[in-house]
Amino acid sequence: MSNSYRVAILGATGAVGRELLELLEIRNFPISDLKLLASERSAGQRLPFKGENFLVESVSDAMFENVDLVLASAGGSTSKTWASIATEKGAVVIDNSSAFRMNPEVPLVVPEVNPQAAANHKGIIANPNCTTILMTVAVWPLHQIKPVKRIVAATYQSASGAGAKAMEEVKTQARAILEGKQPAAEVFPYTLAFNLFPHNSPLNDWGYCEEEMKMVNETRKIFGDQQIRISATCVRVPVLRAHSEAINLEFDTSFSPEEAREILSKSPGVKLVEDWQKNYFPMPMEATGRDEVLVGRIRQDISHPCGLELWLCGDQIRKGAALNAVQIAELLVEKNLLKPKASLVGG
Ligand code: A2P
Repeated sequence: MSNSYRVAILGATGAVGRELLELLEIRNFPISDLKLLASERSAGQRLPFKGENFLVESVSDAMFENVDLVLASAGGSTSKTWASIATEKGAVVIDNSSAFRMNPEVPLVVPEVNPQAAANHKGIIANPNCTTILMTVAVWPLHQIKPVKRIVAATYQSASGAGAKAMEEVKTQARAILEGKQPAAEVFPYTLAFNLFPHNSPLNDWGYCEEEMKMVNETRKIFGDQQIRISATCVRVPVLRAHSEAINLEFDTSFSPEEAREILSKSPGVKLVEDWQKNYFPMPMEATGRDEVLVGRIRQDISHPCGLELWLCGDQIRKGAALNAVQIAELLVEKNLLKPKASLVGG
């Protein structure tokens, strides 16, 4: 006999929601009942799951009755509205928004890094920011061997981080430009096709944007290390769905590229991609649709004896969002932290 769970996806019609659905299917997550929730706008649509077309319903209180697990990816304000309602009704919520990430009561989990944190959940577990997930998967194995003192990151973030509509907008803009027309920007503040701009999240008094501060604060929380110094520059680039990051790491003592390569070649969730002869390293197109974070161009920082440079690409929708959430759900099942209210024979 195996347990099976009643699952709801909040934001099922979005880029991450659709990926959640696909991952639940291909990873064969044990589901006895599935609810697809979105706004009124998309109620009545149908989405495929295991050969059946499931109805998308408008989110309401009643939708969270008899649900064991909610996977939420419908934005911060939607999560703030519905997460407590879902948990009061007995569900565990894995939330992809930034609404609860820095709440000390809420674990912020990357299963390859801090799976133990999930055990302390009080109903809500937060899925970290996408750039942070990708960076922590690559840096944690090195941090385990020699503590990282300082991280300086530059990101090259795809349109997918702003959702399905943003991905469509880049395609529409590209078409318009190629046809000699004026591109329109509605989701993004500026034209992204054939262009790039610093991440457009709100700026703080020091000139850092919210996305950059997420990398600082969330990495410290996930690593359980408030001393680690982190600075990031986040940039939106006209790539559809995988993010790239240039990362400079500073240690107390030197960390040879060979040693780092050896460690990362055996690290969970990481795939080393390096062919120095061909100048072949991770690329967002090759990271698209893959589970692993592709890491390469590992080299000594010539400006610092204890510095290391690396380059990574990871699928923002997959490991940067949906896959990490599904891995957290699998972790809950494995550690018996998700109490099923339904059981299926052989399910
Ligand atoms: P909808 O399709 O009805 O707008 P993305 O990040 O790719 O833009 O997706 C956002 C997801 O969150 C979509 O599924 C969207 O549903 C859903 N969503 C957005 N706002 C709300 C809301 N107020 N209530 C419920 N779902 C929402």
